[in-house]
Amino acid sequence: MGFLLIVLCSCTPNPVRTRLDFNAGWKFHSVNDSLATRCDYNDTEWRILNLPHDWSIEGAFSNEHSTRPAGGALPAGMGWYRKTFRLDPSEKDRLFFIDFDGVYRNSEVWINEQRLGKRASGYMGFRYELTPFLHFGDSLNVLAVKVDNSRQPNSRWYTGSGIYRNVWLVSTGKAYVEHWGVSVSTPEVSEREARIRIVTRVSHQMKAPAEIVLRSTLLSPEGQKIQSQSDTVTNEAGGEMFIQHFTLEKPALWSFATPVLYTLRTEIFSHGIPTDALETPFGIRTFHFDSEKGFFLNGENIKLKGVNNHHDLGALGAAFNKRAAERQLEILKEMGCNALRTAHNPPAPELLDLCDQMGFFVMDEAFDVWAKKKTKYDYHEDWDEWHTRDLQDMVLRDRNHPSVMVWSIGNEIREQFDSTGLRITPELVRAVKAIDPARPVTCALTENLPGKNFIYQSGALDVLSFNYKHHDYPLLPERFPGETFIASENMSAFASRGVYNQPSDSIRIWPEAYNVPIKNPNPDYTCSAYDQVHAYWGATHEDTWKTVKKLDFISGMFIWSGFDFLGEPEPYGWPAKSSYYGVIDLCGFPKDAYFFYKSEWTNPAMLHLFPHWNWTVGDTIDVWAYYNHADEAELFVNGRSQGIRHKTDETLHALWRVGYFPGSIRAITRKDGQVVMEKEIPTAGEAAKIELTPDRREISADGYDLSFVTVKVLDKEGNLVPNAHHLIEFEIDGAGFLAGVDNGYQASHEPFKTPSRKAFNGMCLAIVQSNGTKGKIRIKAHSEGLESDEIKIRTK
Ligand code: GAL
Repeated sequence: MGFLLIVLCSCTPNPVRTRLDFNAGWKFHSVNDSLATRCDYNDTEWRILNLPHDWSIEGAFSNEHSTRPAGGALPAGMGWYRKTFRLDPSEKDRLFFIDFDGVYRNSEVWINEQRLGKRASGYMGFRYELTPFLHFGDSLNVLAVKVDNSRQPNSRWYTGSGIYRNVWLVSTGKAYVEHWGVSVSTPEVSEREARIRIVTRVSHQMKAPAEIVLRSTLLSPEGQKIQSQSDTVTNEAGGEMFIQHFTLEKPALWSFATPVLYTLRTEIFSHGIPTDALETPFGIRTFHFDSEKGFFLNGENIKLKGVNNHHDLGALGAAFNKRAAERQLEILKEMGCNALRTAHNPPAPELLDLCDQMGFFVMDEAFDVWAKKKTKYDYHEDWDEWHTRDLQDMVLRDRNHPSVMVWSIGNEIREQFDSTGLRITPELVRAVKAIDPARPVTCALTENLPGKNFIYQSGALDVLSFNYKHHDYPLLPERFPGETFIASENMSAFASRGVYNQPSDSIRIWPEAYNVPIKNPNPDYTCSAYDQVHAYWGATHEDTWKTVKKLDFISGMFIWSGFDFLGEPEPYGWPAKSSYYGVIDLCGFPKDAYFFYKSEWTNPAMLHLFPHWNWTVGDTIDVWAYYNHADEAELFVNGRSQGIRHKTDETLHALWRVGYFPGSIRAITRKDGQVVMEKEIPTAGEAAKIELTPDRREISADGYDLSFVTVKVLDKEGNLVPNAHHLIEFEIDGAGFLAGVDNGYQASHEPFKTPSRKAFNGMCLAIVQSNGTKGKIRIKAHSEGLESDEIKIRTK
């Protein structure tokens, strides 16, 4: 037998539940070899790595990859993973389960040569029980996982490939709570009291009949015990559903501003001995959709200000990282965003934990296709066999999250256009309601004529969600009397950070129709970041928000998209490989439209002035300002006023058309004659130095935590050089490694996993990850002709 990477699972002899992070020390090979299921297989040549892992993101971009540019132009194919581990003999009487949070796709799993099963979907997590096949003591256990993402194309966006979410080894005593076996709901909530309903599925694997006791305890947001209830569960084999009720006085309500979480502690005892225990955070809130006034949370009418996001994390690919997801939500929150649609699949479970903790509304979406395909080998092939299981698993997994407030059974599903929609829709809604009768179910529709939309006609949806066509929104109440509405997808506007095409008010519809090429494209495959470029099915940010803002019955809108993502590089296609739709680029750097939303969606006074001030003398340049809390804005070029502008209900930005002279532009906003904000952009001089700014100077030494280091090319005065494209080289040593680099340029073919990156419009990004040790990470950046910079990040 070859060298084996051995992990000794030091599960404590304590008989309650353990949930071990099982990500470390896997072996990986990207060639198909069916013998790899064997325990004595020689995997010495295989690569050693830690999960979560996405092998596609490590590849080189090419138009030849079968994923095509729409899928991110990165390699897919097949891969095998193996992990070897020992279990302590003292664990012999326990039960063992392996939980995969997500494997893209067609995974098959073996333990000690025993096949455990297959999952087709790349997005739903799954569990296998390992107990009967395990060895204890000196004998090794071998897990083998085959991942097959070779049939391409199977997606309209970048999916990643591999075991790209977390893996857990769960162990319990012989009486235990089943997988996703706890449900906490709050059927009645008022300020005075909340009724809490707990349903627990308890199972056991004991030979002789035993007395099993279920104890449920409510813990306050501060972690104090509030109430407890113990009940004897009758001892039938095969699992039992047990219902308990609590009444809580003066509950603290979960909201976007105060996302207060209670905890339910579930404990199982057999003959008085604890055998399992787990905790479930939950929130107490009421919400509903109203056909005239839109969305209400705890009785308060709130507009949903949302974004759609795909699951990739830019340079990290699909490999899930909690800090990267948290950073995305922080950036969105700062913009005033309070809602997320998980386009178009269930997300990593930790993303929903973060939404619970940070106060987001979530539309949790199951599918992009049903039985009719959008790409050749997509989920339609698995539909018949898997859709009910995948849909119900999503609801089972996600039902306790207070952030999840609507289930979406699909996106722009083709069955809306023919009578099959009449049959499939009620079937899916029934499958959802069998598990969660309380939450509304929707489906993101494009067809807004009732007579032509068979999903609508099925009568099964609780809320109608429409994508695009915002000019029709005023007609919706008449077309769909008594219904409630969400604008689930809007805009599809394009932008590259820091690119400005004049004049800014010439709208570019790129392309104007599906069968025509785009007119006068930019030769460098960029799109202007003035709000002036969009797809023919979309609109500008300003135009759409103006409509949604005025219509109370539209519960809210979801920008397509929050972040740029890999794949779907419209309007260009290859050589572009990532999307232009985001109001935030692939690095997490805001584009200008981000500040449009900030000016409309947040309270603190703000002013955003653009573009940069490095042009050619003689140019006529449009200068824009997004602002709030002021009744006028005035622009000065080199100290000379260019006039005062006022935002109106019809124009949500200020615009000055001015002749360019080097020097500076300065804008001032005023309210009642008093200055509110001031912003100046000087003409930058020659590029002189690099500046590194980490988002956090201290991170956890847990092997996962990240610091996102913004790299800027500055002149000697410290101004950003807006057209700098220098190649920046990174050196990194100490307690971390470079997890990825990027610059947000959609047509860049530089790989994400190299220690260098060209700046794009003056900026790029280095993502630094803890390597699991405590100490310091030193990052140095240099480039020919520029002064270097160096920073240190502490890991503890
Ligand atoms: C929508 C679709 C999204 C994305 C978007 C691009 O129709 O639902 O997934 O493709 O168009 O504009």
